[in-house]
Amino acid sequence: MNLDSARLLVVGAGLMGAGIAQVAAQAGHDVALFDTRAGAAEAAKAKLAGTLEGLAAKGKLTPEAVAATLARITPVAALQPADLVIEAIVEHLDIKRALFAELEALLADDAIIATNTSSISVTALARGMKRPERLVGMHFFNPVPLMKLVEVVSGLGTDPHVAQAIESLAARWGKTPVHTRSTPGFIVNRIARPYYAEALMLLQDRAATPELIDACLRAAGFRMGPCELMDLIGHDTNFAVTNSVFAANFFDRRFTPSLVQQELVDAGFLGRKSGRGFYRYPEGAPPVPVERFASPTAQRLVVHGQGFVADRFAAAFPHAERQTLSDWVGLEADRAQLRLTDGRTAREVAAERELQAPVVVFDLPLGEPSHLAYAKSGDFDAPVAWLAAAGFQPLEMVDVPGLIVARTIAMLVNEANDAVQQGVCSEEGADAAMKLGVNYPAGPFEWQGRWGASAIVALLDRLDAYYRGERYRVSPYLRLTTH
Ligand code: NAI
Repeated sequence: MNLDSARLLVVGAGLMGAGIAQVAAQAGHDVALFDTRAGAAEAAKAKLAGTLEGLAAKGKLTPEAVAATLARITPVAALQPADLVIEAIVEHLDIKRALFAELEALLADDAIIATNTSSISVTALARGMKRPERLVGMHFFNPVPLMKLVEVVSGLGTDPHVAQAIESLAARWGKTPVHTRSTPGFIVNRIARPYYAEALMLLQDRAATPELIDACLRAAGFRMGPCELMDLIGHDTNFAVTNSVFAANFFDRRFTPSLVQQELVDAGFLGRKSGRGFYRYPEGAPPVPVERFASPTAQRLVVHGQGFVADRFAAAFPHAERQTLSDWVGLEADRAQLRLTDGRTAREVAAERELQAPVVVFDLPLGEPSHLAYAKSGDFDAPVAWLAAAGFQPLEMVDVPGLIVARTIAMLVNEANDAVQQGVCSEEGADAAMKLGVNYPAGPFEWQGRWGASAIVALLDRLDAYYRGERYRVSPYLRLTTH
């Protein structure tokens, strides 16, 4: 099954359909573009012409390439036969099914229909089709010409050769195809849920402000913090996706939506587009306060534990002793302990130690030294100065387990493990999907390799014990890797 010179029909000339037509035409395919809205296909082509000519004016495309791409796109007034149809119409099960019935009456038996649905089950869409094995998901990301990821989605009845042919085609178009089974949220929208959910949990518990949460996750390498990202996506859209993943998983409480976001939606504080979400626009997030500390001194400085965090402290304090076999990671400065979070609160750790010895628990420092959340066991400041001396900008938050970055990463890793356990995707697929579909600085399994499965499981178990309920239950696949 080779689609290299396939004739295409793109149905739906909206945001996504127009982008798909562009990418296909640039790869050399003849593309017919159809939309039920009169004039929509012509308007999409005219808009594309403007964009491509703009790129040519900047020297990024030759005028010949622009002309050739445009010449391959033909707005059509009715559905017509093709080797491959890519559907990007309204996100509605019955309307898509009706379209597929019309198409099957018109297409050759070996034609393929690919759907760009972002949330509807490909298995369900195929029901009632004459040739359900010829339907496959081809889930592009917005903006289509720029985003590399394509999730190739197999429904229960999809012929594996059909999925394979679509993967090869996507690769030929310069995309990175990742195969997924048709399950709620596919890969990206499923694994990404905790990125929003953990921020919303922290806000609900009043553990930190939106600007502090955003600053810490940006410091960990994410392009945007979860609060500013939800403001950008729109709380109505983000809440709808969360609700649909929750419902599609039979209301598995791990995916429970947040009252914090419900309230923003109720108020019409939808984010950037309404001028107000977590932040007010156009100003956006206010800067986080910088805490200042005097240079710390200690009679005895010891770096505890192993791994990249311990190494970072050892590099910052070359004269410190090292205790690599310690059961915790961080820095001991006289009686004070500064510990990488293991899921216990600072007060919990302090309660197990000698009376009133200060304990500071700090967050997982993933990126370059920058904003780093911490919580402390009592009313003291001096030991925190060691975090500043190690190059971080310490930001105090309420003493809750897992702080910000650690619990978020642990939950992303956990969700990715569940997806692999359930045969939704491979480990490599999960990593590629999250890096390319939502620009994560690393894939979940890359984080797991760096931080260590045992530390992640320990942290999740403590979150589970603290909050009770199902949200933090450890994926069996993740726990298995620690045995
Ligand atoms: P859109 O609203 O921009 O475009 C949809 C187009 O389909 C409209 O021009 C509409 O007139 C046309 N249409 C509706 N019913 C039709 C029919 N029966 N036959 C032919 N044309 C019809 O929507 P958008 O954002 O392009 O989304 C399209 C599909 O892509 C949806 O399934 C959506 O879930 C999916 N998607 C959207 C993404 C996004 O970021 N907007 C990302 C990935 C997938």
